[in-house]
Amino acid sequence: MMNIRDAVETDLSAILAITNHAILVTTAMWSVTPVDLEGRTEWWRQLVSRNFPVLVAEINGEVIGFGSYGSFRPFEGYAHTVEHRVYVAPSVHRRGAGAVLLRALIDRAIAAGIHVMIGAIDAENEASLALHRRFGFVETGRMPEVGRKFDRWLDLVLMQKILGR
Ligand SMILES: CC(C)(COP(=O)(O)OP(=O)(O)OC[C@H]1O[C@@H](n2cnc3c(N)ncnc32)[C@H](O)[C@@H]1OP(=O)(O)O)[C@@H](O)C(=O)NCCC(=O)NCCS
Repeated sequence: MMNIRDAVETDLSAILAITNHAILVTTAMWSVTPVDLEGRTEWWRQLVSRNFPVLVAEINGEVIGFGSYGSFRPFEGYAHTVEHRVYVAPSVHRRGAGAVLLRALIDRAIAAGIHVMIGAIDAENEASLALHRRFGFVETGRMPEVGRKFDRWLDLVLMQKILGR
């Protein structure tokens, strides 16, 4: 039974484990240095204090994924655009959590009057590209070799969805 809710401070160790797996093992996130609980707590506090959502997905009470959005760029003109991210623990990939989290983020963004959502996605991340396409996101940017991890260049794909007029 999957449940989506706002993250609370006690969820941050589960969020930390999912984040650090993505950092250490994948190119889904382009950081290379693991984060610690203090860092994740500060990240959560910053987002929540600015009324941005941090959501968790849980199955049988266990946090198995999270999603959030925040500023796209820190200038007033971008106030109606957000960049989001969704991460699901590998052991439960392809069981619908990513879709439920992204749907919930879109609903929150619409309710908050956000105009555009942007996902910044590694061009090789077919799972994320397919997930976003399924929700009506379209590719609006492709930036060759702007990232580097695991000794190779990475291309960035920007996918966006206009939520309202
Ligand atoms: C991308 C990610 C969030 C998808 O989460 P998930 O819970 O596995 O995805 P879901 O089961 O909800 O799948 C929803 C849809 O996404 C697409 N999708 C998901 N995984 C896919 C894969 N491996 N290959 C192709 N399409 C995939 C499909 O369209 C799928 O619908 P379907 O199962 O009915 O065909 C997950 O793979 C993940 O956490 N990856 C690592 C972190 C990451 O890449 N985050 C995105 C950065 S923005």
